[in-house]
Amino acid sequence: MTAGDNDDAQRARIIVRDMTADDIKAVRRIESLAYEDAWPARTFEEELNNAFAHYRVAVELQPKTSGTLATIRRKIAGAPERVLGFMGCWYMVDQIHLVTIAVDPAEQGRGVGRRLLLDLFDLARVAELNTAVLEVRVTNTRTRRLYEEFGFRLKGTLHQYYKDNDEDAHVMITGDLSAPEAVERLARLRREHRRRFGATFADGSEAEAGA
Ligand SMILES: CC(C)(COP(=O)(O)OP(=O)(O)OC[C@H]1O[C@@H](n2cnc3c(N)ncnc32)[C@H](O)[C@@H]1OP(=O)(O)O)[C@@H](O)C(=O)NCCC(=O)NCCS
Repeated sequence: MTAGDNDDAQRARIIVRDMTADDIKAVRRIESLAYEDAWPARTFEEELNNAFAHYRVAVELQPKTSGTLATIRRKIAGAPERVLGFMGCWYMVDQIHLVTIAVDPAEQGRGVGRRLLLDLFDLARVAELNTAVLEVRVTNTRTRRLYEEFGFRLKGTLHQYYKDNDEDAHVMITGDLSAPEAVERLARLRREHRRRFGATFADGSEAEAGA
């Protein structure tokens, strides 16, 4: 093992995996920090049992440490993972619908949100759904720009869609995800993500394995 290998083993790594009922507590904490109108735990439980829904979490794995003392510490500390963010989507007839996405405010700007969006497009490809759709608050301009980078375009406005403050929603939709420009855009976004954040993300979905 080289010094570099050792550094690598020590570093925490982020993976994306399916959400389970055990994640709900951590997910709700993040949701309540990120959203004004957080869902009750029951809604997540129902969604995890919804055959047309798919919920994913980005988790940071604790760095591998060796030695008896480190092993004992790890056992006492409990969970070897920490949830950083999550997203949920619905498989509609012919499109994937991004229902929710949030990253712990303390962890935003580390590429977790982009990684979850890449995951959304992987799920769409596996399910052979050729468009993606979402709603976003009209005032959420930074996030709208992020969605535009991923190929979402304004389709229309839903008036007073958000019940907490009667805010309008922009409906954003992608073009055909199998079109060459969409495939190339996703490949470029994956390359950029690997270049900017690759060191902290571990393999774990097609988003890392893709072009
Ligand atoms: C939108 C969100 C999921 C992005 O997650 P993230 O982990 O910060 O995303 P990344 O680090 O991958 O990318 C951040 C990019 O998103 C944009 N962005 C949007 N909101 C941001 C925020 N609050 N903090 C930092 N960047 C934000 C930035 O332009 C940034 O681009 P850059 O990397 O070129 O600077 C996250 O900001 C969030 O949870 N927001 C609150 C909940 C929300 O609005 N969800 C969307 C509802 S439709």
